[in-house]
Amino acid sequence: MDRPLAIARLSALADETRLSVLGAVMRAGEEGITAGEIAAAVDRPSSSLSGPLRHLRLAGLVERRKHGKLSVYRGTRGALRELADFIAALEKQAEAASGLVLQPVHAENAGFIGLRGTLQKNNLPVDDLGGEGQRYFSLLDEGGTAFGYGGLEGAGADQLLRSPIIYPTARGSGMGRALVRLLEARAREEGAQRLWLLTSDAEKYFRRLGYKIVDRAQAPKAIARTKQFAGLCPASAKLMRKELR
Ligand SMILES: CC(C)(COP(=O)(O)OP(=O)(O)OC[C@H]1O[C@@H](n2cnc3c(N)ncnc32)[C@H](O)[C@@H]1OP(=O)(O)O)[C@@H](O)C(=O)NCCC(=O)NCCS
Repeated sequence: MDRPLAIARLSALADETRLSVLGAVMRAGEEGITAGEIAAAVDRPSSSLSGPLRHLRLAGLVERRKHGKLSVYRGTRGALRELADFIAALEKQAEAASGLVLQPVHAENAGFIGLRGTLQKNNLPVDDLGGEGQRYFSLLDEGGTAFGYGGLEGAGADQLLRSPIIYPTARGSGMGRALVRLLEARAREEGAQRLWLLTSDAEKYFRRLGYKIVDRAQAPKAIARTKQFAGLCPASAKLMRKELR
């Protein structure tokens, strides 16, 4: 289920009258229930139920069938299950993130198509790959399945987060977030106080992870002298920074 539909359904449920009406409709099962019967079940006048019923129908939670002049309402089959699955998927993201680890990899020798090939496929810079002070990692679960790569560059208080990347089939389930968090933790253990990155089209993504845009003129020397900053990323690429707690 897509997010707009999930939001429509959650907001339809977030109301005392609508929730009571939905309960009455669900209890009626396949047979369905008329507006008059719903009114009796929820102890409200029928005239007050057209708005709530319409709202529930628009959110796809309730269906209306006409039998002559009579309207009969039924719960939409599977709609609440879909919503429950949507919520469970959020929970799963937390579970998935908790079993993930970073395994150091060599820049030129990792995985099937390797780090270089994966970055190239996604139009991320590779010309300085394997340069001094760079460390790369593969994101793995406990069973050893790989989901993507990420890297760090530098040794001091200001380090560069390099090209976090998740395989397309694994995207959208919190892996990217988990990868960035693990890289941040790793950088912190290695003495970083701030993590910097350059991005052309993932600014919004990193903002959600706590990174803020910084004017390129404010880049500290350790970042300004990296090849990514000095030449590989286009001048239009945004510089972003996060203070590591
Ligand atoms: C960016 C990337 C690592 C995110 O990985 P992911 O596992 O899909 O991310 P998550 O599951 O943690 O987050 C998914 C959310 O981020 C959003 N998102 C993903 N990439 C985005 C981008 N480039 N810009 C804005 N939002 C993005 C998704 O739409 C989704 O939004 P939702 O939660 O509202 O549905 C992945 O898309 C990727 O590998 N992209 C190609 C490489 C790349 O551009 N890396 C960044 C280099 S600076």
